[in-house]
Amino acid sequence: MSMLNIEWSEKLSVGIASVDEDHRKLVSLVNDLFSACFAGVGDEAVASILSEVVSYTQYHFGHEEAFLSARNSPALPAHAEEHRQLTEQVLAIARQGREALSEEVLLFLRDWLAHHIMGTDKESFSPYQ
Ligand SMILES: [Fe+2]
Ligand SMILES: [Fe+2]
Repeated sequence: MSMLNIEWSEKLSVGIASVDEDHRKLVSLVNDLFSACFAGVGDEAVASILSEVVSYTQYHFGHEEAFLSARNSPALPAHAEEHRQLTEQVLAIARQGREALSEEVLLFLRDWLAHHIMGTDKESFSPYQ
């Protein structure tokens, strides 16, 4: 296991089971990406995990936005805007491919994931626990 891996813990729970489930999957995909990069697997394998990260991220953001929208959450507009910016950054990384996956980029991915979950996600979902 690489030092970059995120360990799932209750600290990451937002108190909504379906959202927590998505986050576990997302954490595990990002961990797979770290492992693949450090194991020196082929560029194609890394690209395929990266595209899974991108598509799962898009699915997950859609899920959260639908949840908040169905409840007329006042947090939705700012939350969706943060998702839009994060998606753009992840897509930019994916477009650049394997070469762009420096340790710095991997750390950036890990940190936005953890910060977004523990910040914006927790704040937005806490009223619905
Ligand atoms: Fe989330
Ligand atoms: Fe979110």
